[in-house]
Amino acid sequence: MKLGVNIDHIAVLREARRIYDPNPLDALNICEKCGVDQITIHLREDRRHIQDSDALAIIKQSKLPVNLECAIESSMIDIACNLKPTRVTLVPEKRAEVTTEGGLSLYDNRLELAIDKLHENNIEVSLFIDPTNEAVERSKELGVEWIEFHTGLYANIYATLHTNIRNSHHAIKELDLSNQILEQKLQVELEKLDTLSKKANSIGLKVAAGHGLNYDNVNAIASLQYIEELNIGQSIIARSIWIGLENAINEMMAAMK
Ligand code: PXP
Repeated sequence: MKLGVNIDHIAVLREARRIYDPNPLDALNICEKCGVDQITIHLREDRRHIQDSDALAIIKQSKLPVNLECAIESSMIDIACNLKPTRVTLVPEKRAEVTTEGGLSLYDNRLELAIDKLHENNIEVSLFIDPTNEAVERSKELGVEWIEFHTGLYANIYATLHTNIRNSHHAIKELDLSNQILEQKLQVELEKLDTLSKKANSIGLKVAAGHGLNYDNVNAIASLQYIEELNIGQSIIARSIWIGLENAINEMMAAMK
């Protein structure tokens, strides 16, 4: 199982202070040393985390392949084509959201144009999608190389069952359900990810997954045979506060095994 580390979460802290430190670029050497497979960065339209200059420096200096996540806006696609990362993962973006909530709408007119343009620039394309049969089939029709399953619902159910999030101000209203129902829902999500990754693989799509994966919930996802890669940010960067980035990445790799 490959690991992409989403290092733009480091810039969340920097931008909170609007200064120069910590710099996500400084994570490259550590990721390489740990044997990470890919650097993942999300250049948001509102530039609330990494900036264009970060993306440029990271893509120029990284010895690892870089997976650039961005919205399907034509201005973002132009930037991606100039930056020339190894892969672009197209993600939905809403200004008010805290993080990417849910997968892409796959019938947006701009999508085919974006995919064509990225392919013309020799950039492989991934679509961040909800784990549904329709989304897998539509992704195949759109001619992309990769899909990335949004694991947010799985992660939210897991957190509601196994942490105290329920009793906090971040409680998830829709998941105010009995533990028995939550256990069933968790199983359904895992089975969906298993079945759909197998299907995607059988029709020639490479399969990644990510969002909300952490040290406790990652193993069940990492055990799914047809998922090739996980992209993980928040939990690794959060853990690095306590034990340093190198240890945090190594612990994640161990948790995935
Ligand atoms: N994959 C995609 C496409 C994402 O948008 C994100 C969030 O930036 C991640 C993976 C990583 O999610 P998390 O930070 O919750 O690990």
